[in-house]
Amino acid sequence: MMLFELLPLFLQINALWIVLILVSILVISLIFNFILFKWRSSVLRIYSGKKRRVDRHLTYPRQYPCSWYRICDSDEVNKGQVKHICALGQEMVAFRGEDGVACVLDAFCIHMGANLGYGGTVVGNCIQCPFHLWEFGTNGVCTKIPYSDKIPPNANIFAYPCVEKYGMIMIWYHPNREPPHYDAISVNDIDDNTNTFVARGKYKYPNIKMHLQEFAENSADSQHFGPLHGTMIIPWTEILIPFIKIDHTASFALGYEKHIAYFYDTAMLKIFGEKYPKTKVDASIKFYGPGGITLFQFDGEFGRLYLFHCHTPTDYTCLDVEFLAFIEKKIPRLLSWYIIGNWIAQWKRDIVVWENKVYKRAPFLVKTDGPIMKMRRWYKEFYVQKEEAFDW
Ligand code: FES
Ligand SMILES: [Fe+2]
Repeated sequence: MMLFELLPLFLQINALWIVLILVSILVISLIFNFILFKWRSSVLRIYSGKKRRVDRHLTYPRQYPCSWYRICDSDEVNKGQVKHICALGQEMVAFRGEDGVACVLDAFCIHMGANLGYGGTVVGNCIQCPFHLWEFGTNGVCTKIPYSDKIPPNANIFAYPCVEKYGMIMIWYHPNREPPHYDAISVNDIDDNTNTFVARGKYKYPNIKMHLQEFAENSADSQHFGPLHGTMIIPWTEILIPFIKIDHTASFALGYEKHIAYFYDTAMLKIFGEKYPKTKVDASIKFYGPGGITLFQFDGEFGRLYLFHCHTPTDYTCLDVEFLAFIEKKIPRLLSWYIIGNWIAQWKRDIVVWENKVYKRAPFLVKTDGPIMKMRRWYKEFYVQKEEAFDW
């Protein structure tokens, strides 16, 4: 067969290839464009979202409510140690003298402003400033100026009212530096039964971008329990267990003392729609003030657990959280691990909401929403000035 006789066949094959190649190019370019379009629109969406985004932090009260706050753990300041602390929009210094007494002072020296948290040292029961070696006692009073016989009577650094208990150092905060309006937390059950209750671990969760008031409101917001806390989770994880639901019965009440409020929750497992009363756990949460330190109490057939839930604001809308557990000795470790791990896993489910929401000063509530406004009226008492938040 001559070559020219093959030409039509060759041309036919080539034409087929060309069509195939063209179709492929078309398909590839369509896919590419589709991906590009998707990518661009998602980028644009993010961009336009950013452009439109409200500064949600400004919608919250720009204040730290008056309260006792956990400022650090006892074991972070051993005898002779100094610790620099940033909390409540302030810089502070904690130290423990030779006598074992811990205290918290303003970090800046009254003399010329050196930061006692950087280079300050413990001398006896005082802290010595690294700059000109002035010394201050646990009450902030200047006890020594190395090059002066006289100490001016008002040479004091502000000392925060301080209480050390349950493995934590607590201070009273008031923006006008008024003395405590009420006592720091004390739990008779733990104080009186030191052989029954034992400290069993702590759990830190720093830097949550939320305002302290959100935590208090959450307990009065009874309608969020079903959607956010109604499914069983593997303790300490975010893994949901299907078919096992948690039935919540929640209520909120104000205490006799005006700085105290209670939140009660009875939780029971519901497996394939059937409730199991044996799984019932009663939890009560006692607010000692606006939520700086709250106390969870779990009661069941197994015994009693206490969990201090402490929030320390580092900024108006940033919290360091720490849980401290005190548990009846007879409760097996595995069970306490399970109960607390479950509680903390459920608490964590709120974080994504807290970290992205705005504060609605006039929320659009319905009758069955829970006593949110009652909680707000109670909470307002812990602010010194009128709320000056940006109205959203
Ligand atoms: S700045 Fe502290 S002693 Fe001078
Ligand atoms: Fe919640």
